[in-house]
Formats: sequence, structure tokens, C-alpha cells
Amino acid sequence: MKKHSVVIAGGGSTFTPEIILMLLSEEGRFPLSELKLYDNDAERQAIVGNACAIIMKERAPHVKFSFTTDPKEAFTGVDFVMAHIRVGKYEMRSLDEKIPLKYGCVGQETCGAGGMAYGMRSIGGVLEIIDYMEKYSPNAWMLNYSNPAAIVAEACRRLKPNSKVLNICDMPVGIEDIMASICGLKSRKEMQVRYFGLNHFGWWTSIIEKSTGRDLMPILKEFVSKNGYLHPSMEGHVDADWHSTYEKARDILAVSPNFMPNTYFKYYLFPDYVVSHSDINYTRTDMVRDGREKRVFGECKRITEAGTAKDSTFEVGGHATYIVDLACAISNNTGERMLLIVPNNGSIINFDPTAMVEIPCIVGCNGPEPLVMGEIPRFNKGLMEQQVAVEKLVVDAWIEGSYLKMWQAISMSRTVPSVEVAKKILDELIEANKKYWPELK
Ligand code: NAD
Ligand code: LMR
Repeated sequence: MKKHSVVIAGGGSTFTPEIILMLLSEEGRFPLSELKLYDNDAERQAIVGNACAIIMKERAPHVKFSFTTDPKEAFTGVDFVMAHIRVGKYEMRSLDEKIPLKYGCVGQETCGAGGMAYGMRSIGGVLEIIDYMEKYSPNAWMLNYSNPAAIVAEACRRLKPNSKVLNICDMPVGIEDIMASICGLKSRKEMQVRYFGLNHFGWWTSIIEKSTGRDLMPILKEFVSKNGYLHPSMEGHVDADWHSTYEKARDILAVSPNFMPNTYFKYYLFPDYVVSHSDINYTRTDMVRDGREKRVFGECKRITEAGTAKDSTFEVGGHATYIVDLACAISNNTGERMLLIVPNNGSIINFDPTAMVEIPCIVGCNGPEPLVMGEIPRFNKGLMEQQVAVEKLVVDAWIEGSYLKMWQAISMSRTVPSVEVAKKILDELIEANKKYWPELK
């Protein structure tokens, strides 16, 4: 079987060690010859890189491993770029959350004004990585799961239409894992789904058991209308802070009861609830820094000091196997059916053909072939039209350096009550993002 050379962009990410363990556990179907980490923050990446070097030496000495901040070294001779960068890191994510909250609006990593601010930072970072890939390894594919995926994907569509970039998100995967548990199945792979929407903004319209064709929607509707996605099997496996998000799916289902919803509609359909349950002095970033970042970096430093990872507490990031599914689909032409963020192009018949939508695709060596999802109802379509306009206006603002477009984008979000509030949030975000955003005039 062909061995692959992979570079992980955003090597200093808190997700890197468990993704590396996952890649090693999947070598049976996706063998590696070389694994490199790339980041533009040498100090942060070294914490992760030094520990991963020990893990690789002990568990996969046959795979050449290195980490670097030099693009040429990182991107030369690779088959796949797996990208999970966070431009501005947690310091800026914190402001994305806190600035909108100050004005009584949802402050969240990818939703609302904070997500738009993050988008304005991410576009340049992701495009730069595509450029490096195309310069040093023109035949490589980039599997991008850097957020905010919707805005990044629209920027790729507009500015890199011919690049080999696939935008994918783990949120539907995570929810499908829960759905499988609710239905008493061992794996989400036993299900076949139909889904339509935008990233972090979509619905399952059909879920059947693959082997028998059994309709699983009635079981799911019954369960979710009472409990949301909060299933007992998640106890101890899911961050406690996520419980309310899973639970709230119950109320999201109530307003569009024919389809199973993505959890992030919480931010768009219940913004007042979200704001009243937020603490501006301790937002999700603070939780992630006190939780995942401390745990991962603490463990990395411990491994490096001990000089061995034999007793490491890192677990295989099992749920990230979707990344290998995608790489295998390209490399081995598996024709796997997966949800990807792709140009609509008629798949959702009564929706903007130029929108980046999240829909099932058959993925093979030439990339994704999107499936037709047909016509969608007015309520869901209306919500999507508003949100896709927000995402497109942010990309317009980035390309044109337009203050007006960014103001319109924030004003149009369901999470912001008025044009006046939008302006106040925007002006403060501009100040905070001086180092990262193009100048807006
Ligand atoms: P993190 O801050 O721990 O790591 C991100 C790394 O990216 C940092 O080390 C940073 O230095 C680096 N970076 C920033 N700008 C860069 C650039 N221009 N070039 C190279 N490296 C750069 O963040 P995290 O919490 O681990 O999240 C990483 C990313 O993955 C985020 O975008 C997050 O939203 C995303 N994510 C996506 C999914 C998904 O499935 N879509 C799931 C989880 C996380
Ligand atoms: C994270 O940092 O974990 C996010 O990507 C999602 C979350 O849990 O807020």
C-alpha cells in the first residue's frame, strides 16, 4: 500500500497529539512515510513537537518525524496537508467572545460577530497555507478543518477555485456518533444520512440503517424531543460545558420538527438564552485554556521531561478518524459518502448555486461529487439565506477592505439586534484585530 507524507499545519494545536495517535492507529489503511508539524509560533509548537517526537520514536520509528516553522521544509514532498490553525490563538478567541457579549450579543468561536472576526483573521492564514502547498507540493491535497469553516470555505471558493482543498467539519460527525448511540448502533458508519445546510447550520432530513434500510428518524425524534442529544452514553466522555448545548437541541427540534438539527442553531435561534447563560468574565476560551490546553500542554511537558511516553495519558482522538476517511477516499478512491462543505451548484435546488453548503458527497481520487438534496422548506431556506449573506459579506469585506460590508454582515446576523449595536461591536473588533485584519475603509 502507498505510504503517505503528511504535514499538520497548526502543529502547536491542542488537538495535535491525539490526532497523531489517531493517525498511527489508522496506519493499517493509511500508512505513513513521514509526518511533519508546521506552525508559525515556534515556541508553542515546540511544546507539542518535543513530546510528539518521543511518541513517534517509541511507537512509530518507521515514520520520519519533524517539526518546523520553515514553510519550504514543511510543505516540500507532502501528499496531504491537514490544517487546523487558529489565527490569533486563544488570546483573540477570547476577545471574539467577550466583545459581542459586552453589547448583549452572542460571543462565540464561530457564530455571530465573534465568528466573523475570527473569519477575517483566518482567511489570510488559510490562503497562505494553500500557497505554500501549491508552491512546494503541487499535487498535494489540503484537508482543512480550521474554523470558521463556512467563511474560510467561501474565501477558498472565491479566491482559490482550482485548489485541491477540502473543507470538512467534525460537528456532524460528533452528533452522528451520539445518534448512533441513541439508536443502539455500534458506529455512525452503520447509518446513511441525508443532510443539508451551511457549516454549523444544517439539518438531517433522513437517517436510515445502512444494512437494512430501517428508518431511524422516528427513534431519534422521539428521543431528542425529550432529551435533546443528551444521551447517557456521553457521561464522562463529553465536556460538561457542552451538556446544555446538546440538551437545547430539544427546543431547536420543536421549531423545525421534521429534521434533526445541528446543535449550533442554539446561537441563532436562542441568542437571548445564550447571552443570559454566558459569563463575560469566563467564556468558553477560558474553559478550554483551563481544561484542554492545560491538560495537553502539561502532559506534553511531562513526556518531554521524562524522556518517554510509555505511560502517557493521551488517548487516540477516535472521533477524528473522519480525517483519515477523507484522506483514504482521495488516496484509495474509496467513494466514501461524507458531509463536506462544497459549492451548492444545484444540489439544493431552490438555493443560491454559489453558496458553500454542507451536504453529502461521494469522495474519490478526483475529490467530492455532491449529491442532490432537492428542495428545502421556506423556514430553513430563509434562515440559510440570511446566514449565507452574512458569510459572503464577510468575505467581500476581507477582499475589498470594506467597512460597509463588514458592518452589513454583523447587522444581518440573527445574533445582533440592530445596526447601531453592530457598529459598536465592529468598531471595537477593528481596534482589537489591528494586527490581523486588512484595513477597512
Ligand atoms: P490552538 O490555538 O491550540 O492551535 C492552533 C495553532 O495554530 C497554534 O499553535 C497557532 O500558533 C497556529 N497558527 C495560527 N496561525 C497560524 C498560521 N498562519 N500558520 C500556521 N500556524 C498558525 O487551537 P485549537 O483549539 O487546537 O484549534 C485549532 C483549529 O482547529 C481551530 O481553527 C479550531 O476552530 C479548529 N477545529 C476545527 C474542528 C473541525 O472539525 N472543524 C474541530 C475542532 C477544532
Ligand atoms: C474548542 O475549542 O473545543 C472548540 O473548537 C469547540 C468548543 O468546545 O468550544
